[in-house]
Amino acid sequence: MNDYVAGPTSLAVPAEAAAHAVNPWVAFAYLVAGVCFILALRGLSHPTTSRQGNRYGMIGMTIAVVTTLVTHDIASLPEIGIAIFLGGTIGWVIARKIAMTDMPQLVAAFHSLVGLAAVLVGWAAYLNPGAFGILGEGGAISPVSRVEMGLGIAIGAITFSGSIIAFLKLAGKMSGAPIMLPGRHFINLGTLAAILGLTVYFTQDQSFWIIAVITVLAFIIGFLLIIPIGGADMPVVVSMLNSYSGWAAAAMGFTLHNTAMIITGALVGASGAILSYIMCKAMNRGFLSVIAGGFGADAGGGGGGAAQTDRPWKRGSAEDAAFMMSQAEQVIIIPGYGMAVAQAQHVLREMTDLLKEKGVTVKFAIHPVAGRMPGHMNVLLAEANVPYDEVFELEDINGEFAQTDVAFIIGANDVVNPAAKTDKSSPIYGMPVFEVDKAKQVFFIKRSMGGVGYAGVDNDVFYMDQTMMLLSDAKKMVEEINKSLAD
Ligand code: TAP
Repeated sequence: MNDYVAGPTSLAVPAEAAAHAVNPWVAFAYLVAGVCFILALRGLSHPTTSRQGNRYGMIGMTIAVVTTLVTHDIASLPEIGIAIFLGGTIGWVIARKIAMTDMPQLVAAFHSLVGLAAVLVGWAAYLNPGAFGILGEGGAISPVSRVEMGLGIAIGAITFSGSIIAFLKLAGKMSGAPIMLPGRHFINLGTLAAILGLTVYFTQDQSFWIIAVITVLAFIIGFLLIIPIGGADMPVVVSMLNSYSGWAAAAMGFTLHNTAMIITGALVGASGAILSYIMCKAMNRGFLSVIAGGFGADAGGGGGGAAQTDRPWKRGSAEDAAFMMSQAEQVIIIPGYGMAVAQAQHVLREMTDLLKEKGVTVKFAIHPVAGRMPGHMNVLLAEANVPYDEVFELEDINGEFAQTDVAFIIGANDVVNPAAKTDKSSPIYGMPVFEVDKAKQVFFIKRSMGGVGYAGVDNDVFYMDQTMMLLSDAKKMVEEINKSLAD
C-alpha cells in the first residue's frame, strides 16, 4: 500500500509510471483530511467546541480511509469487508462492555496495538520490499527506507511493550509502584545507543539479524522505560505512550509512503508530547526525567502504606454534610477517581442544584491528574451537564480555599494529600495539591478508612480537626445528602 501504486479506479496512477509520482487527487484528499484533523485538535481543546472537534475528526478519517481504499491496490473488497467486520465487531463488543473506570487501561491496550502494527508493517516491508516499492539499486532495499524501517520498528516495539506494562499497572495486574533496577540509566542509555547504532549499520548491511536485534532491543527498552514509573507519574506515561503511538503511526506512514498516516501520526505524536509536557509542568515533574524512565525518582519512595486508623478521626453523616453546606456561603467540590467508580456525577449535579437554590455558591476544583486519564473529571461533569463556568483548574481555585466554608472531597485522595508538599519520601512529593486544609470545614467521602489512593499513601487530611469522614459509596452518600437537603 503506497501513494504511488496503481489502484483499480480512474483516480489511480499506473504502477509502471508511478515510481515517484504522487496522484494529485490523492494528495489533495489527504491534505483536506489533515486540515480536518488539525481542526479536530483545535475543537478538542475546549469542552464547548469538543463535539465539533470530534465531527471534524470523523470527517477527516472518513476522507483518509475512503481515499486510501479507492486509490490503492491493497486487497479485494471482500477481504477488506471481512477485516472491517471483524475489527468493528471486536471494537463494538469492547465499547459496550468496558466500564468508564477501565478506560485508561483500555487506551493503553489500544496504544500497544498501534505499536505492534508498526512493527508488523516494518517487518512486512523488510520481508517483501518489492510490494512496498522500496527497492533501490541492485534489488536491495533503499538506504532511506532502511532507516525508516529501523526507526519505525524500534518506535513501534517501544510503544508496544511500554503500553503493555502501562496496561498491567493501570489495570492493577502489576504493582503501580516504581520498580527501580540498579544501573537502569546506563542500561537504558546503552540499549538506546545500540538501537541507533544498529539502525545506522542497517543502511550498509540489510542482514536479517540486524533488524531482529533492533526489534528485540526495542521491546526490552519499552519495558525498561515504563517499569520505573509509578505513583503520580503514571498520567504522564499515558499521554507519553499516546505520543509514541502517534510517532509509530507516522513511521508506518513513511514505510507505506502514505502521507495521510504521516500527517496523522505526527499530529498525534506532537499533541501527545505537548500534553505530556503540560502534565509534567502541572505536577512539578521534569519532562526529561519522566520520559527517561523515572530518572531522578527516589528509589525508596514507593507507597507509604494504608491509613493509620489508630489516629483520631471524626465520622460525619449525610445530615451533617447537608446542614453545614446549606449554611455555607461557598462550597468547593473536589472530585476524584472514586466519583468515577461510583458514577456519582449526576447525583452530585443534583446536589449542586439544591445548594444553589439555597443561595450557596458552588464551584468544582479539578486537578490535572484527578481520576485515571487526562480530562477524566471534566468528561464526567460535562456528561452530568455541570456548567463549564463552575469548573475551575487547580491554579485558578487553589487560592480560594482560605475563604471557603466547605471543601467537599468526593472520591479524591492523592490530589488533596498534603504529603505532596511536606514528605520528601512520598511518591507524590512535589505534585501541587489542593490546599483543602485551609477551608473551614472538610467533608471527605470514601468507602473505608483502610482504602488508599492510587499512590498508596496515608492522608493527613483524614485526621484534621475540621475534617468529617463520610464513609460510604460516593453515589449513595450524595443521594442521602440530597434527601436531607430537599427536606
Ligand atoms: P485516588 O488518589 O486514586 O483516590 C481515589 C479515592 O476514591 C480513594 O480514596 C478511594 O478510597 C475512593 N473511592 C474509590 N471508589 C469509591 C466509591 N465507589 N465511592 C467513594 N469513594 C471511592 O484519586 P485521585 O485523587 O483522583 O488521584 C488520582 C491519582 O491517580 C493520582 O495519584 C494520579 O497520579 C493517578 N493517576 C492519574 C492518571 C490520570 S491521567 N489522571 C492516570 C494514572 C494514575 P476507598 O477505596 O476507601 O473508597
